[in-house]
Amino acid sequence: MTALENVSIAVGKGDFVSIVGPNGAGKSTVLKTISGTVKCRSGKIYFNDMDISQLPAHRRTELGIIHVPEGRRIFPSLTVKENLEIGAYRAQARPAASETLHTVMEYFPILRERADQRGGSLSGGEQQMLAISRGLMSMPNLLMLDEPSLGLSPRLTEVIFEAIKTLRDNLNFSVLLVEQRALEALELCDSGYILECGRITMRGGREELMGNVSVQKAYLGGL
Ligand SMILES: Nc1ncnc2c1ncn2[C@@H]1O[C@H](COP(=O)(O)OP(=O)(O)O)[C@@H](O)[C@H]1O
Ligand SMILES: [Mg+2]
Repeated sequence: MTALENVSIAVGKGDFVSIVGPNGAGKSTVLKTISGTVKCRSGKIYFNDMDISQLPAHRRTELGIIHVPEGRRIFPSLTVKENLEIGAYRAQARPAASETLHTVMEYFPILRERADQRGGSLSGGEQQMLAISRGLMSMPNLLMLDEPSLGLSPRLTEVIFEAIKTLRDNLNFSVLLVEQRALEALELCDSGYILECGRITMRGGREELMGNVSVQKAYLGGL
């Protein structure tokens, strides 16, 4: 089946871009297509002006395109520290691994406390922090996050989103976030897209999207 059609999105250097839309809209497929775990049959994907459409997924990772997949997918039987170290597998990230480890543990101190505990023993929120931190260990140029709020309480979601924003502001990478939680995701972004049934139905800056009456009705609880 065709999951996406005529999807055109752009993420500028250092930008925070959110894609929001209902379940089944194709949000995860967008990220998988960019990271190369799903092949696109037509169209092109450019990264820093380079056509990456035909590159295998691991080559895209080497370029710093880092995908934190839906449902966290940490390694449950490895320790927190081992999970993080795997993130630094990318050649460019390896020399700085211990420094980056220190940095991510500053942002998420709970991971330092739990460093020798198995990943699978962490709570949902902590596993999400671990999944994001594993992504950070790769020193991403583009960090793609697939529904980091999934299964988390609104309060924990807020904590995670604030952390992502602070990290982006301080560590100088671009963020592409896909979310069903539209309000939180749009509040954070510089610009955003609405994805419905595999198509982009609206795009704009944060204020423009949040001020749009039909976006408000459909996604923001009629603010
Ligand atoms: N591996 C697959 N095979 C067939 N259909 C799929 C596959 N993955 C996703 N789909 C379908 O593609 C559409 C988009 O899915 P997805 O990208 O997961 O949406 P979202 O992340 O927005 O919930 C859905 O209709 C889904 O059922
Ligand atoms: Mg999804």
